[in-house]
Amino acid sequence: MGTPARELRRPVFARFYAWVSPRMEPEGMGDLRDELLAGVAGRVVEVGAGNGLNFGHYPPQTTEVFAVEPEPYLRGLATVAAADASVAITVTAGVAGQLPFPSGSFDVGVVSLVLCAVDDQRGALAELYRVIRSGGQLRFLEHVAAQTPVLRGVQRVADATIWPLMAGGCHTARDTLAAISMVGFEITTLRRLRFPDNRIPVPAAPHALGIATRPHLTRPDPANRRPHMS
Ligand SMILES: C[S@@+](CC[C@H](N)C(=O)[O-])C[C@H]1O[C@@H](n2cnc3c(N)ncnc32)[C@H](O)[C@@H]1O
Repeated sequence: MGTPARELRRPVFARFYAWVSPRMEPEGMGDLRDELLAGVAGRVVEVGAGNGLNFGHYPPQTTEVFAVEPEPYLRGLATVAAADASVAITVTAGVAGQLPFPSGSFDVGVVSLVLCAVDDQRGALAELYRVIRSGGQLRFLEHVAAQTPVLRGVQRVADATIWPLMAGGCHTARDTLAAISMVGFEITTLRRLRFPDNRIPVPAAPHALGIATRPHLTRPDPANRRPHMS
């Protein structure tokens, strides 16, 4: 087996995202990032960090962030943003499906607008499950499959035609909440919202913002074992 790919070049999308994403912050995305990261504490892994727009939203209880980003142009911008952040952030190359960290080494994992874009969503979530400690959290802000059949139909058409090409491999019809549960996380907090919040049926408008917990390992407590009756 060769060395795993740590880079994913999408030069056109990267420049477009670097231009458009800061313009969405004052339109409400900045507030959603605050909500995404409220109460985060300890060691954090952020996967698909893009140009680092979450970095200014980490609370002071965050001891250290390892931000993984495979696209070199966005990673360069993230590195600059990390230098300005008030918490310690290390930006590194890597892909979601093969995170360069030991199992159980993080208190919190963070994904925002990433699970729509990864090639193997299940593999990415399984890796997050692996590196988050038992009892730790996955914080997510993702656009997800619509709950209405009409918009879901629009999403399927978009995904089968131009959307992934236009939006850096993004898919709009993924059932990301089911995928999060499928790998073993328990979704404990969930808010569904639309962004942008207007009546135009934008395929990527339905979002889910929440917290999923990696359950504690339950081992039988020796103190509760019944005495052996012979
Ligand atoms: C829409 S951008 C979101 C960036 C950032 N998380 C944010 O909230 O602004 C999607 C990001 O996912 C990254 N990405 C795509 N495929 C990935 C993969 N397999 N592993 C890790 N990141 C990936 C892209 O390079 C890009 O930075």
